[in-house]
Amino acid sequence: MFEHVEPFGGDPILSLNEDFQKDPRQAKINLSIGIYFDDAGRIPVLDSVRQAEAKVVARNAPKPYLPIEGAANFREEVQKLLFGAGHDALAAGRVATIQSVGSSGGLKVGADFIARWLPGSEVWVSDPSWENHRSMFEGAGLAVRSYPYYDASTGALAFDAMCEALRRIPAKSVVLLHACCHNPTGVDLTRAQWDALIPLLAEHDLLPYVDLAYQGFGDGIVEDAYALRALAAARGRDGRPLSFFVVNSFSKSMSLYGERCGALSVACADRQEAVNVLGQLKFTVRRNYSSPPIHGGQIVAAVLGEPELRRAWESELGAMRERIQAMRKALHATLVQKMPARDFDYFLTQRGMFSYTGLGPAQVDRLRDEFAVYLVRSGRMCVAGLNSGNVEATGLAMAAVLDG
Ligand code: LMR
Repeated sequence: MFEHVEPFGGDPILSLNEDFQKDPRQAKINLSIGIYFDDAGRIPVLDSVRQAEAKVVARNAPKPYLPIEGAANFREEVQKLLFGAGHDALAAGRVATIQSVGSSGGLKVGADFIARWLPGSEVWVSDPSWENHRSMFEGAGLAVRSYPYYDASTGALAFDAMCEALRRIPAKSVVLLHACCHNPTGVDLTRAQWDALIPLLAEHDLLPYVDLAYQGFGDGIVEDAYALRALAAARGRDGRPLSFFVVNSFSKSMSLYGERCGALSVACADRQEAVNVLGQLKFTVRRNYSSPPIHGGQIVAAVLGEPELRRAWESELGAMRERIQAMRKALHATLVQKMPARDFDYFLTQRGMFSYTGLGPAQVDRLRDEFAVYLVRSGRMCVAGLNSGNVEATGLAMAAVLDG
């Protein structure tokens, strides 16, 4: 029956993380997977989250199936977090939100929805993008192509080339955009660039699909939502509110990876469209996994909904963001000291958990084999894996590899 089944080649990120776990070397350094580690090298349990979870457990509530679309309190808090409480789009009832199994689950439900209701649409992802974006949309049966994004010669955004390419793609194409903390490069659009891009998307009748997995890791919770709030204020070619998708995640921002807490929201032109879209998202969920799990979402809803926990969370998230920035500076300092003629300023200008180091696969292999420093083979470094105990060693190892 299964003789013809081919072996799985492994996932470029998750398999690498598994290899790291098996590596017997004491001084190994994991800068591969997008997980925030604290300065002691541990995945933190945030205090705000611990308190929220204690409250959820103390309720001693039964655990019924959630509605297909998820818990109402979770969905409402997500909408407020994304768009801002009292946003016109929410007041108009034109945003359809479902609780999803991580933001990956949201991406997949959205992809299935597109395959069903916009079957001819191509999906355009940035070059490069999170490795799983292409795989997920292709897995839903959609054609995936890429638009220019990162200019390897400057280490900066290839904004003109990006716009030029997007002007030429077919109407109704889906354009996957990273709202902040671009994965894998750490190179983001400025506000002025978003302000220029959004009318272009509208004018060419393109469908933005925003991935917001790192809200709070760039410049702040509200600041990192700039792109999606600007999209929510925009009008399409027909003069009606612009339609777009946004998936968001609490894996990183609340350090809740394994609870798989995320959401998919679809901003529609009006309330009736949102009702229909929500219905079809529910149909997609029902025939995939029926309904989302209950526990993690209730923790998130408590953190977001209770003012004291919310304040505590915002300050913990701020501290994570600042620690990453401090690590960027420390790594930069070591590298500049070892290789003064080389420009490492990208570590300071890139945002969020990731930096695109420009190291090639052979150099990444050397880092792993000779120095037990793990990066993704694309050269992506998870800066959030650096700490005061390993940052210097990482800088020295990188310098050794760059030196040839
Ligand atoms: C990453 O990019 O490393 C994270 O988002 C984890 C994952 O699922 O790939």
